[in-house]
This record gives sequence, structure tokens and C-alpha cells, in this order.
Amino acid sequence: MTEGLLKDKFGRTIRDLRISVTDRCNFRCFYCIPDEDIVWKRRQEMLTYEEIILIAEIAVGLGVEKLRLTGGEPLVRRDIEYLIENLARIPGVHDLALTTNADGLDKRAASLRAAGLHRLTISLDSLKPETFKEITRRDALQSVLDGIEAAMQAGFPPPKINCVVIRGLNDMEVADFADFARATGISMRFIEYMPLDNGHQWDRKLLVGGREVLERIQERHALVPLQRDAPSETALRYTFADGSPGEIGIIAPVTQPFCGACSRLRLTADGNLRTCLFSMVDHNIRDRIRRGDTRDQVADFMIGTVLKKEEGHRINEPDFVQPPRTMSFIGG
Ligand code: 5AD
Ligand code: SF4
Repeated sequence: MTEGLLKDKFGRTIRDLRISVTDRCNFRCFYCIPDEDIVWKRRQEMLTYEEIILIAEIAVGLGVEKLRLTGGEPLVRRDIEYLIENLARIPGVHDLALTTNADGLDKRAASLRAAGLHRLTISLDSLKPETFKEITRRDALQSVLDGIEAAMQAGFPPPKINCVVIRGLNDMEVADFADFARATGISMRFIEYMPLDNGHQWDRKLLVGGREVLERIQERHALVPLQRDAPSETALRYTFADGSPGEIGIIAPVTQPFCGACSRLRLTADGNLRTCLFSMVDHNIRDRIRRGDTRDQVADFMIGTVLKKEEGHRINEPDFVQPPRTMSFIGG
């Protein structure tokens, strides 16, 4: 492991940079993005690929080892393969992943693999066409399932599937998703619903805690806990006791916060560093690059920004205030 120079005040080291490449998306998941009247960032506001590559190189030089491309939906940005090729080439990048809704992935999986992408995470909240449509406002379940299939055909390791569990909407499908994992060999990631939604409709009543998700799965299948890969791993992971393929992961940011081991820093599509999903401030790195700061100056700015990283989210505090940016404008 290279020396980590991105250290915060609480003893954490940043190893993981999440890069949002666009705020646009072809879906309208209600918990993530507004349904109408969206003001997209203008082209000039967005980082160019060359700017993203420069920022990634600097971050890797300071000890970052994992890069994840997110959005919005990263596949809607033109020629994302070009960016992947150039990020994959940076010495010191041990892990290069992309989070996608997988719509149209069947046509892209092979070129993403050829460009050097290591792995995929796919968002999928329902296996029922009607519920899928209710959540994403798109009738695209089959396209997503085709995308998952194509990813495996293209030689990617079995993808992780992110499922945000929402009471009354898809919580009754949790055990069905476990069956899906067993049938396909994929890794499920059940995520607690977080107060980052556009409509500010988040309500604790809609939250299904990780413990409850686990209980529902265990009513159908016995599970065995797995060792954490790394302390910063967000998921509590399980395999099936009967040795069946597939994996279950529980991501419980609200009921079992994991901020104490956070190794993440985020870069928004318009060139702002964010030290936490729930930050109230952006740190504009784009304008420093555009005004001609040297690499060393940009590196110093990154080091200083990480020193401002919050100790943790305050979702469970009585005075919690939801940040103005939703997930689509931050990047998962
Ligand atoms: N709560 C929890 N997860 C969310 N995501 C988007 N918005 C929220 C939210 N409010 C998830 C998506 C995607 C990942 C990038 O973030 O489902 O899989
Ligand atoms: Fe798009 Fe993903 Fe947000 Fe859904 S969760 S609107 S697919 S970016």
C-alpha cells in the first residue's frame, strides 16, 4: 500500500474516490432525482475528461487506490470508455468500478470491459415490472436484467446489485432478491433509504432497517456471516449456509452508521470535492485547475479539503438538516 497522504482529523485515510461524471440520468428514481423541471448543469460547468483524469492522477498520487464512476447515470455521458481507458492506466489504481442502472448495458458491457473497467455495481430495486416502474418511472426492468446477463457474458465478475429497501414498496421482495442472488451468483446489497431525496419526503417510517432485512431473508435461507474485506467496507456480508452461490450484503448507514471507518471522498460532475454525502459545503477544485494551479497546488487543496471531512453524518440527531444536493447531483 502506498503511503496515504489524505488524512483527516479523525485518523481516517482516504483510499476511495467516487467520481460523478454527469448529473443526468435516463431514469427518475423518486428517491434520487426530481421528476420534472430539472436544471441540468451546463456543459462548461462540467469537468472535461482531461480534468477528471488530472484530478484522479493527483488523488492516486496521494494514496487513493479505488476509483468508482457514478452519476447520475455514467453511461449517458458520451464515450465513457475513453475515460475508463485513461483511469485504468494510472499506476496505483487497484480497483476501477462503475455504478449504473444497467439500462442499455447489454450493448455496452463488452466495450466497458475492453476499456479496462474492473467491475460493475448495478442498481435494481424491484424484480416486478410494475414496482420497478413505480420507483424509476421507466418501464425498463427487462432491459436491466438483460444488462446484468450481458455483464457476466462480457467477463466481468458477478456484479453487485444495489437495492434501496423502502417500506410498502419493495420490502416484500427482499427474500426474492436472495433467490435471485442464488440463481445468478451475484452479490446483493440491501441499502437503507437515506434522507437525500429530492422531494424531502424521507420519513423514518419508510426505512427498513438492515436487521429486519436480514430477518426476512433468514426466514427463507440460513446465512453465514463473512469476514470484512477491509475496515472501510460498508456492507455486512453473508453467504448461504447450504453453499449456494451468491452473497448478501447489508448496508445500514442510518441504523448502524459506518462513518468511523469511512475512506471516501467524492468529486461531483461540476468539479466540487465533497467530504461526505451529507456535507453542507462543496470544495471547488475545478476553478483551481482552470485558473492554472500547478499539480502541487491542487494536491495541497485536496489535502486541506480532507482535513475538513466531517466526523460523520448526523441523520439520527434531532437537528439534522438534509443537504441541498440529492444523490444524482453528488454521485453515489
Ligand atoms: N438512499 C439510499 N440509497 C440511494 N441511492 C440513491 N439515492 C439514495 C437514497 N436516498 C443509491 C442508488 C444507487 C446508488 C448509487 O445510490 O440506488 O444504487
Ligand atoms: Fe438514475 Fe440511479 Fe438516480 Fe435512479 S438512482 S435516478 S438510476 S442515478
